[in-house]
Amino acid sequence: MPTTHAPAKEPGGRSAVRTLTRLWPYVRPVRTRLFSAALVAIVASCTGLVFPLVLKWMVDGPVADRDTGGVWLGALLLLVLGIVEALLFGFRRWLVARPLAGVEAAMRADLFRHLQRVPVAFHDRWASGQLLSRGTTDLMLLRMFLAFPLTFLVVNGATIVVGMVILLAQEWTLGLVLLAPVLPMVGFLAFFEGRYAAVARRAQDQVGDLTTVVEESVLGIRIIKGFGRHRSQARAFRELSRTLRGTELVKARLLAAIYGVIMTLPELAIGAALVLGSVQVADGGLSTGTLVAFLSTALALRWPVESIGFLLAMSQEAATATERYFEVLDAEPETDAGTGAGTGAVGEAAVASVPAPRRSGAPPATAPALADGIRFDAVEFRYPDAPDDAPPVLSRIDLHIRTGETMALVGATGSGKTTLTALVPRLHEVTGGRITLDGEDIATLGRTRVRALVSMAFEEPTLFSASVGENVLMGDGGNGGEGALDRALAVAQAEFVHALPQGADTQVGEQGLSLSGGQRQRLALARAVVGRPRFLVLDDPLSALDVHTEALVEAALRRVLKDTTALVVAHRPSTVLLADRVALLSGGRVTAVGTHHELLRENAEYAWLMSGGTEG
Ligand SMILES: Nc1ncnc2c1ncn2[C@@H]1O[C@H](COP(=O)(O)OP(=O)(O)O)[C@@H](O)[C@H]1O
Ligand SMILES: [Mg+2]
Repeated sequence: MPTTHAPAKEPGGRSAVRTLTRLWPYVRPVRTRLFSAALVAIVASCTGLVFPLVLKWMVDGPVADRDTGGVWLGALLLLVLGIVEALLFGFRRWLVARPLAGVEAAMRADLFRHLQRVPVAFHDRWASGQLLSRGTTDLMLLRMFLAFPLTFLVVNGATIVVGMVILLAQEWTLGLVLLAPVLPMVGFLAFFEGRYAAVARRAQDQVGDLTTVVEESVLGIRIIKGFGRHRSQARAFRELSRTLRGTELVKARLLAAIYGVIMTLPELAIGAALVLGSVQVADGGLSTGTLVAFLSTALALRWPVESIGFLLAMSQEAATATERYFEVLDAEPETDAGTGAGTGAVGEAAVASVPAPRRSGAPPATAPALADGIRFDAVEFRYPDAPDDAPPVLSRIDLHIRTGETMALVGATGSGKTTLTALVPRLHEVTGGRITLDGEDIATLGRTRVRALVSMAFEEPTLFSASVGENVLMGDGGNGGEGALDRALAVAQAEFVHALPQGADTQVGEQGLSLSGGQRQRLALARAVVGRPRFLVLDDPLSALDVHTEALVEAALRRVLKDTTALVVAHRPSTVLLADRVALLSGGRVTAVGTHHELLRENAEYAWLMSGGTEG
């Protein structure tokens, strides 16, 4: 069940206002527009409060005097006021629309960039739907908040204050009657705020879970269909969607309750004022015009008061969205510094305690490159989210891959092969010991440098929605031209590309042509070699291929491996034979190193694995 999301703080403990202030850096660039828009809206809203005053003048003047001309004048005045109010509100909308779209875009861009920069371990921990929903639903909520509730909480607050002043000025006794419900209402709102915050957070997290299910269903459609799992998948979806519906209903009930309070109390007060006012008019203590004006002002204030409920609700949701957004943005990105922050301390301490035969004292950038290949020195690794008492996935790994050599890595499923390969390009950081490339510790080399030196192909050959050429040249930071592309395609035996409808310009990936597994594997290999990397790390490039395709990819591999230093995860004897030596990974340790034939003779586990003891 995809319920992984970041350890969320208890919503009750935080203040919505404090959370929302974190939006300021994004709002700052558009603050002038936003403030002017609020000002315009306050003026527009207060224009509405002039209507009752005109009415009062009409009732006490022209209407009482039966002056038709005066009535027409009053009507004309009301019309003009109405048009001015409408124009001002339209102007406000125009003022905010474009800048706020910009704010949303900027926040989304930051989120996307950050997601690219956080370590792989972060993505291991987070369900993709939770990230997706933050980039879509939550950001939309934030834009809506900035466009509407933020402004209107201020505008309606100001309107209520101005209106109350007008009311008190006209007839302070009746004004006090209207003010009576204020205290209980504030109490209710405060209570409601806290409850609503918790439910809003739950609802938004559930949207994230739902997004994850939808995403997995789409990505895994073949498995779902193939195994006839559509019913259970639909059930999982229905389940989550029902939970979400339940949460939304709780939200609606809370909102309904607050609406009930917020609408009833003022109505009661207005009713009381109406009775008291009528009595005063009958006694002659109050003019009819004043009563009309008083009541229409009170009625004009109804919307500003009633709206407070859902404006606060929307603000709560926006606060939750902000919180969810910054949960991602607060995740520590990978730094490119040599001794990376965070894991640096652990790494350094461990390095210091390790005998370092070839460690040069010179700073890494200027150190002369020894042709030393890849060296693992007492490497230990545990996943960051593993329980403290669990044994490390890899421990005391000592392995030396000489320059120009191809080392095959063999081991049972789950023995840590993928993990070991991921350490070389620093997708994960070693938690003990060190890895050197040509004698230089990768921890001090900097990630960009390491990744320029080391090229990878993964078990799952991922193609992006782009042309074949773009997909391959990605391996060269996009620098390589036509020549590099053709060479890489030739080395990876991917000449089939030339027979595609538009050759290397053919669109592939989710939005393009579907390629076979073997074709994708060879493109992934081409991507790995296009930048002529010094070191090559291949995680099982032959996984899940049929025999014919396997032969094709193996031929490709043979040429790829010829002129680099490589570590290749392998399952089958045919792949292992491409390597000069083999390392056997077992129980988190390298238990044997030798040629394929040596190990076959001397190592029972290896012989068992090679005889088909594991998959492949
Ligand atoms: N992201 C991860 N977080 C925690 N544990 C993991 C993660 N990836 C793999 N593991 C665990 O590490 C061990 C080795 O996995 P892996 O390196 O994928 O094995 P192999 O590639 O040899 O099949 C397994 O026990 C697996 O459950
Ligand atoms: Mg693996």
